[in-house]
Amino acid sequence: MKVLVATEKPFAKAAVDGIRKIVEESGNTLALLEKYGSKEELLEAVADADALIVRSDKVTKEVVEAAKNLKIVVRAGAGFDNLDLEACTAKGVVAMNTPGQNSNAVAELALGMMVYISRNQFTAGTGAELKGKTLGIQAYGNVGRLVAKIAKGFGMNIIAFDPFLPAEKIEADDVTVAKDLDELYSKSNFVSLHIPATPQTKKSIGYDLISKMPKGGCLVNTARKEVINEEELVKVLTEREDLKYVTDIAADNQAELNEKFGKRVFATPKKMGAETAEANINAGLAAANQIVKFFTTGDKTFQLNK
Ligand code: 3PG
Repeated sequence: MKVLVATEKPFAKAAVDGIRKIVEESGNTLALLEKYGSKEELLEAVADADALIVRSDKVTKEVVEAAKNLKIVVRAGAGFDNLDLEACTAKGVVAMNTPGQNSNAVAELALGMMVYISRNQFTAGTGAELKGKTLGIQAYGNVGRLVAKIAKGFGMNIIAFDPFLPAEKIEADDVTVAKDLDELYSKSNFVSLHIPATPQTKKSIGYDLISKMPKGGCLVNTARKEVINEEELVKVLTEREDLKYVTDIAADNQAELNEKFGKRVFATPKKMGAETAEANINAGLAAANQIVKFFTTGDKTFQLNK
């Protein structure tokens, strides 16, 4: 079987080496398409692939249909808004992700960004400490849980909201449960987003929620830019000169945000939440192992299109 790794943003070399070892030792072959510049390159590369490993690369209906031999696609990572699951199902392709494998890297970055914005983006001037501040975690999944754990080390008070998790699961970590998003935003000095981009969450974070934040509040986005209502973000940051926004996924209107709000906003140059050697190795090797297991035993753990 031919396993194609198609990554516009490549894995660390150690991860690629590890993926190659798993694939080749199981008697399969590995093909690599990195930093490709066009959709056409991807369409050509997938033509004879039996399995596909991607990161945030868009696996559209066109890609699935061009991959005539494709049996399985694994998104090496958590968010799978880049996979057209319907197209996969229609073609009998199993789609998977590798939940939890890159969570620690994202969680560490979320806290790092909070320190960075609280210390004037590492420029001169009096900053503020995280200790004693309240951190609101929106969605208590793999990343949210780790953010809570690390933030406790900073001495932050943690509050979380997750409509898909029983309160006891959150309380078991000694984390306070917010009854709704209004409570989460109105009580939190920082709100850290860990929601996926779905039709329900897209543009769901806007004026109404952000304006509830206390004085000096900061919204931290290491999730997806699509969950933000960007026009309303401009409105609330204009009205509330005390609020801040830091993101690992530059907004479509980031240039406008930077120009209007200067040091109150910050976006990483390119999404780097999962850009650690460890996260690349964890997610990449998990993807390769899931594919080999699927081919050898038919195992479909982590299948998304059930
Ligand atoms: C994820 O959903 O796993 C993260 O956003 C990482 O995405 P990346 O593989 O594009 O860095």
